[in-house]
Amino acid sequence: MAPASGTSRRESPAKAGSIMAVETRAADGRSETRTGASIAPLFAAHIERFNAGVRSSDFGPMIDHFTDDATATFETLPIGPFHGRAEIEQGYRDHPPDDEIDVISTTEPDARTIVARFAWHRTGQTGTIRLGHRGDALTDLTVTLDPEPRRPDPVALRGDFPILRQEIHGHPLVYLDSASSSQKPQVVIDALDAYYREYNANVHRGIYTIGEKSTAEYERARAKVARFINAPEAHEIVFTRNATEAINLVAYSWGRRNIARGDAIVLTEMEHHANLVPWQLLVQEKDGDLEFIPITDDGVLRLEIYEVLLRLRPKLVAFTHVSNTLGTINPVRQMVDMAHDVGALVLVDGAQAVPHVPVDVQELGADFYAFSGHKMLAPMGSGALWARRELLEAMPPFLAGGEMIREVHLRRSDWNDIPWKFEAGTPAVGDAIGLGVAADYLMEIGMDAVREHERELVAYALEVLPARVPEIQLYGPLSPDARGGVVPFNLPGIHPHDVAQVLDRFGIAVRAGHHCTMPLHERLDLAATARASFSVYTTRDDIDRLADGLVEVLGVFRD
Ligand SMILES: Cc1ncc(COP(=O)(O)O)c(C=O)c1O
Repeated sequence: MAPASGTSRRESPAKAGSIMAVETRAADGRSETRTGASIAPLFAAHIERFNAGVRSSDFGPMIDHFTDDATATFETLPIGPFHGRAEIEQGYRDHPPDDEIDVISTTEPDARTIVARFAWHRTGQTGTIRLGHRGDALTDLTVTLDPEPRRPDPVALRGDFPILRQEIHGHPLVYLDSASSSQKPQVVIDALDAYYREYNANVHRGIYTIGEKSTAEYERARAKVARFINAPEAHEIVFTRNATEAINLVAYSWGRRNIARGDAIVLTEMEHHANLVPWQLLVQEKDGDLEFIPITDDGVLRLEIYEVLLRLRPKLVAFTHVSNTLGTINPVRQMVDMAHDVGALVLVDGAQAVPHVPVDVQELGADFYAFSGHKMLAPMGSGALWARRELLEAMPPFLAGGEMIREVHLRRSDWNDIPWKFEAGTPAVGDAIGLGVAADYLMEIGMDAVREHERELVAYALEVLPARVPEIQLYGPLSPDARGGVVPFNLPGIHPHDVAQVLDRFGIAVRAGHHCTMPLHERLDLAATARASFSVYTTRDDIDRLADGLVEVLGVFRD
């Protein structure tokens, strides 16, 4: 192929299992080499030209995008020719440093073509890159952006969730308990099925085909989860059974080494028991103190009091990103900055955030981020802890046994590298693989779109429920912008358990009780609440059905 003016270019093979490299050399001798998915970010400025029919032989000028001091490093996953993720370290002229493309799936329709679906991480905009190659030459390259960022069509998405097709007591199931646990799409069910049917084997052990596949898929899932929350590297993801285990891991490992007599830990009044009880145990053992950021009556954190509590110079601040009971979305970045200013580390409980809002752990700036898989469309028994590498490396093991060691002698042992140092024993391999598939599914929809969908549902519920059921008492922030897809409520004089039981007769599933936030209920002077919570598959029709159901409940208890 003829070199573009002022440059020369060499293209090397794009074979399955290898990585494709494009090297661009400018007239002044500067050169850039890009491999695999790392080529993708360069397309941004060229998309229009490519779509107008300009082919890869005009690749040369891309070098102009790089400022003199820019560096770019790229992580390519060892799973095929075009899976991977580009990370721009210092940015280049047209894009900020954190502008990234995620390659979300790759197919090879024939021996000479690779088709990759990609998403701009920041905007969620999706598209297709089609690469043609012959031997070791790149022959064709087309980038097509989807016309609109994909928005979830919940009605269509429902078809992906087999459980929603059933009837309960003669009514189509309306599942409004996704904050407790989400339903699972067919792709996740298929992934579990394929794992157990085709390559069930322990990881990091078997020198045989299905053992190697099991290991590769397990580690591939880790990379997907890292991409989902924009972790700097996959090895900072520790697989756990759920958010509770992730938080306990930090409390036991980091906490027991770093919290001493008189040290303070700052929590909030809205914490789930999972982000409260482990810290109670820790301070009881170490003779430390717990302090709590209070909330307003609308369920918003009082940051002016937080500021005062920080004067105690706490060692740790731990709070939920999104409240499971009120839906409040907390200002994580601001709270993290305030904590860091006084030298405190920050743990964020992301159990109710990752399924519903875009999460970028680098942008949030926290030190630990814990979440469950089963609330984000993944199998039960899956979850993860993200923490900064240097913290994980300095922390002692949590559980001990196989997998987490490098060498064992009768009286002492050496630990494995992270993250395996924290994954003692045989992990839940299929569940972790399912978690990776769920992350892919959500990324394909785009978390901005998921958030917008749920924001609209909350707005609709806050309008329709009081209009149809004037007696209803709603709790939490009044603005849909300030809350996730969670709507707690009560009907006067009717216990929430009775509300839930009558709704069940109409096929409507809501949670009733204290939702593992007893101190929050005490603060709001409530014995219990009923709670409707949403996910990608929730529709306006579900909310209409809830309103109908509540009218029925009132009828039952009036009679
Ligand atoms: C905010 C929050 N944190 C932690 C948890 C605990 O999650 P898991 O039971 O999956 O460990 C939950 C579960 O409801 C939650 O809502």
